[in-house]
Amino acid sequence: MSDGNKGENIVLIGFMGCGKTSVTKELAKRLNLNYIDMDEKIEKAEGKTVSEIFKDHGEAYFRDLETTFLSKLENQKSKIISTGGGIILRDENIEMVKKIGIVVFLQADVAHILKNIKDDHKRPLLQDEEDIEKKITTMLELREPLYLRTANVIIQTSGKPIKNIVDEILEIL
Ligand code: S3P
Repeated sequence: MSDGNKGENIVLIGFMGCGKTSVTKELAKRLNLNYIDMDEKIEKAEGKTVSEIFKDHGEAYFRDLETTFLSKLENQKSKIISTGGGIILRDENIEMVKKIGIVVFLQADVAHILKNIKDDHKRPLLQDEEDIEKKITTMLELREPLYLRTANVIIQTSGKPIKNIVDEILEIL
């Protein structure tokens, strides 16, 4: 990382299962920085899992929590911040994310996403779907332009080990 990036946060965005959480932890380790996992923090603050929040209060309530949480991040420095996959669904979130730090979009294809989330029951938006591949494809089509609009840097993650993804990020930043 160049000196010019000192103190700047790195914000990771991308679809569910693209590798945000693993990349965040590895990046934080390599840069010796602390990380903030938004879903984790929201779960802690609410005393519920994301699935429980969706079930008990609905998606809009969760989205409000995300927006409120983001609004409190502006004074953070030198953090790696992992966002939930839906963070780009609100324009005001996109504006805040861009202000918080340099935004890295982890871009994954449907096959990679499917492989990472298929045995996972933590994602309420992909539960109870008969054709999960179709659901991911549709959601990705809608969200991809929003991730691209928000990103400063785009890194392909499909089929790559976490270490290589982190190497690539460090080369670019
Ligand atoms: C969501 C992604 C999840 C979590 C919630 C909604 C989404 O985070 O915030 O289930 O809308 O894409 P991950 O991207 O970390 O799975």
